[in-house]
Amino acid sequence: MQRVLVTGGAGFIGANFVDHLVVHTDLQVTVLDALTYAGHREAVDGFPSDRVAFVHGDITDAEVVDREVAEADAVVHFAAESHNDNSLHDPRPFLDTNVIGTYTLIEAARRHGTRFHHVSTDEVYGDLELDDPARFTEQTPYNPSSPYSSTKAASDLLVRAWVRSFGLQATLSNCSNNYGPWQHIEKFIPRQITNLLDGRRPRLYGEGKNVRDWIHVDDHNSAVLAVLQRGRIGETYLIGADGERSNKQVVEQLLTTMGRPRDDYDLVADRPGHDLRYAIDATKLRTELGWTPRYDFDSGLAATVEWYRRHEDWWRPVKEATEARYAKSGQ
Ligand code: NAD
Ligand code: TYD
Repeated sequence: MQRVLVTGGAGFIGANFVDHLVVHTDLQVTVLDALTYAGHREAVDGFPSDRVAFVHGDITDAEVVDREVAEADAVVHFAAESHNDNSLHDPRPFLDTNVIGTYTLIEAARRHGTRFHHVSTDEVYGDLELDDPARFTEQTPYNPSSPYSSTKAASDLLVRAWVRSFGLQATLSNCSNNYGPWQHIEKFIPRQITNLLDGRRPRLYGEGKNVRDWIHVDDHNSAVLAVLQRGRIGETYLIGADGERSNKQVVEQLLTTMGRPRDDYDLVADRPGHDLRYAIDATKLRTELGWTPRYDFDSGLAATVEWYRRHEDWWRPVKEATEARYAKSGQ
């Protein structure tokens, strides 16, 4: 394997994945990204030009996709519409990118016999009760709740069907909630960090009791690389780092880290259909591929706060508009 096509490589996880490849492998990388509101050219501009090329294009554009897939030995597919709240207001782009975009890519990978890794979310499994000790495994039935998670579930099922029906050389991974550099400030953790840096109060949906299983983005990406290199074709691997915390706990930790009183937050309107709890059992990934996470949540979160402090130039221009959108829903 020499050349990897990374779709969505200008987004949060994709840009960190490109960084991971540049640091930890000798692979040549081509990023294919449409630069939607969530894509950032500056996130890929810093890489050496002899290692990383950038192609501005849409994964629903069959011509561009065919050309780029033909040049690659493997595709790692991150590109997606990724935010649940946006999917509740306007589901259509989620169908176009997550379903038709994935279909366009796997058709090209099938034609060219290209290795394909599909990046997905644990949200395809729906949610767990707050007081239930159960965690998601690769055997958990699909039961997505939102337009976002249902389109990701659809894309997973397409990839699985293409493996079975056409022999597509694909693997899949479903990861829990990521945090780290370059995450759009519409998402929970960077929204609260930038609120605090901006002198605003954090905003917790409902009572803040919903639980997410946090993983540092670089741990997610080391697992994706392990699956790409050593995963078995047709298999799904769940990725998680035992990072379960309620949203309230995360906000309290941020307030403490940033020197503010622990109760200095607002409870705001809940998200419709809000999934209660996600939790990953990553036994298969750990035992079969020998993967282990490197970050602990406390130091990873503190480093992320510092990153947003140092990168105000990047997030400041979109802060007002992001908050204005939330204000319309009382959030
Ligand atoms: P993101 O929204 O930050 O980035 C998405 C990227 O895809 C952007 O660069 C955007 O420009 C690009 N893109 C969107 N539509 C496109 C299209 N039609 N053609 C080409 N490029 C397009 O998303 P993210 O948080 O980095 O998530 C990446 C992947 O990881 C997604 O597939 C998501 O479902 C999955 N995932 C995310 C998380 C998480 O916590 N963020 C957890 C598990 C899995
Ligand atoms: P989010 O980052 O949108 O990820 P996901 O919906 O994929 O889990 O939200 C994470 C959790 O934080 C989720 O339970 C919703 C909640 N949340 C808030 O409480 N306040 C906020 O301002 C946001 C954006 C999310």
